[in-house]
Amino acid sequence: MGGTMRAMGEPVIPVADLRYAATVPQIPADAPAPSSEVRDRRGRPLRDLRISVTDRCNFRCTYCMPKELFGANYKFLPQSSLLSFEEITRVARLFTAHGVHKLRLTGGEPLLRKNVENLIAMLAALRTPAGEPLDITLTTNGSLLARKAQALKDAGLQRVTVSLDSLDDATFRRMNDVDFPVADVLHGIRVAQQVGLAPIKINMVVKKGTNEHEIVPLARHIRDSFGPGVVLRFIEYMDVGASNGWRMDEVLPSAQVIEMIDRVFPLRPLEPNAPGETAQRWAYRDGGGEIGVISSVTRAFCRDCNRARLSTEGKLFLCLFANHGHDLRALLRGQHPEGRPYTDAEIAAAIGLIWSQREDRYSELRALQAHDTGAKAPRIEMHYIGG
Ligand code: GTP
Ligand code: 5AD
Ligand code: SF4
Ligand code: SF4
Repeated sequence: MGGTMRAMGEPVIPVADLRYAATVPQIPADAPAPSSEVRDRRGRPLRDLRISVTDRCNFRCTYCMPKELFGANYKFLPQSSLLSFEEITRVARLFTAHGVHKLRLTGGEPLLRKNVENLIAMLAALRTPAGEPLDITLTTNGSLLARKAQALKDAGLQRVTVSLDSLDDATFRRMNDVDFPVADVLHGIRVAQQVGLAPIKINMVVKKGTNEHEIVPLARHIRDSFGPGVVLRFIEYMDVGASNGWRMDEVLPSAQVIEMIDRVFPLRPLEPNAPGETAQRWAYRDGGGEIGVISSVTRAFCRDCNRARLSTEGKLFLCLFANHGHDLRALLRGQHPEGRPYTDAEIAAAIGLIWSQREDRYSELRALQAHDTGAKAPRIEMHYIGG
C-alpha cells in the first residue's frame, strides 16, 4: 500500500490527506429535505459546484505550482484517496437538490484523470429538481485538449475554459515552466471549437512584469483567429495558496487592462449574465465579440458568491481561500453509529447545514485590510482545488 506502515486493523490515513484540516460533518437530527432555497449566513444561495478530479498537473506555472515546491519528491494524493466517479456523481446529485445547477471540473489538470469523459457522461445524466440538465464545464490548461475534445463532447460536455497566459511562445514556455509550446494549446482550442464545445472561454492570469505585454496581442489573436464565439477573460493575479510568494505590486488592476484594450479595440460594458458572476463583461464596439475581467483583488465579488468547491479526496471548501474543509468522504465511506452506510438524505442534510453556516468572504476582507488577512493555518492551493 504505497509503503504505508500500519498496525493490524488500523485505518490507513495517507499523509497527503492530512495536508488541510477538515472536520467530519454533523448530520442534523431533524433536517428539512434538501431545498434549492438553502442560504448561507450572508443570504447567498448555492449554485455552483467546482469539482477537482486530480491534484496533479503536467505544467508548473510559476504562480501556481512552482518547481522548487512541486518537484519529484512532492507527495500528491494516492489513488485510494481520490473520490471515485460514482462518489463524485453522488455528491453532485445531492448538491443539485440544494440548488446547484452548474458543475465545473478542475484539477490540477482534469484531463490527466483517467477516463474523465466517463465522469462527464455520468454528470450529464443528472437533472435539477425542475428536470433541467446542468451547465457542465471544465477548466484545462489545453495541453491534452486536441486529443480529448471529441470524447469530451461525445460524453456530454457543453463548453470548456482554457487557461492561456501568453501568445508569445517564449513567455508561455517560461510561465508553464515545462517548456510546453503555445502552438499546441492554440491547436487544442481550435479542435475544441471544431467539435462544437461552446462557448469557449480563455482565462489569462495577468502578472505585472511577466505577461502584461501579452494582453493586447492575445486579445487581437483571439478575435482574429477564433471569432466572437471565444471569450477571453483577464484575471487579476491573486494571493491564493501560500506557494506563489504573491505581492500586491505584481497585480495589474483590471481597470488598466480595459484601458489598454479600449485604446486599440474600443469597448462598451455589458450587463452580467447571471447574479454572482465572477467576470465583468465588455463588448467590442465593432461587434467583434466580448471579453471579461475578473477582479477579485481590486473589486471583490464575495457578496454574491454562490460557489462551493470539492477537493479530489472529497473535502468540501466554502471559499477559494479557506484553510479548513468538511470531510464529505468520511460520510460517503463511513458508517452511521447504527452500523449502516449514511443515506442520501443524511448526507444532503449535512451539506445543507454546512452551507447554512457559511460566512466566508475572504477577498472582501483582504480589500478592507488592504493586505493578506494573516490566517495561520495553511490555505488551500490552486492546484489542489482548481480555480
Ligand atoms: P464561467 O461560468 O465560465 O463564467 O466561469 P467562472 O468565471 O465562474 O469560473 P472560472 O473557473 O473560469 O473562473 C476564472 C477565474 O476566476 C478562476 O481561475 C479564479 O482565478 C477566479 N475565481 C473563480 N471563482 C472565484 C471565486 O469564487 N473567488 C475568487 N476570489 N476568485 C475566483
Ligand atoms: N491568481 C489568479 N488565478 C490563478 N489561477 C491559478 N493560480 C492563480 C492565481 N494565483 C488560475 C489559472 C487557471 C485556473 C485553474 O486558476 O490560471 O485559469
Ligand atoms: Fe498551471 Fe493550471 Fe497546472 Fe496550476 S493547475 S500549474 S495554473 S496549468
Ligand atoms: Fe467566494 Fe471566497 Fe472568492 Fe469571496 S474569496 S468570491 S467568498 S470563493
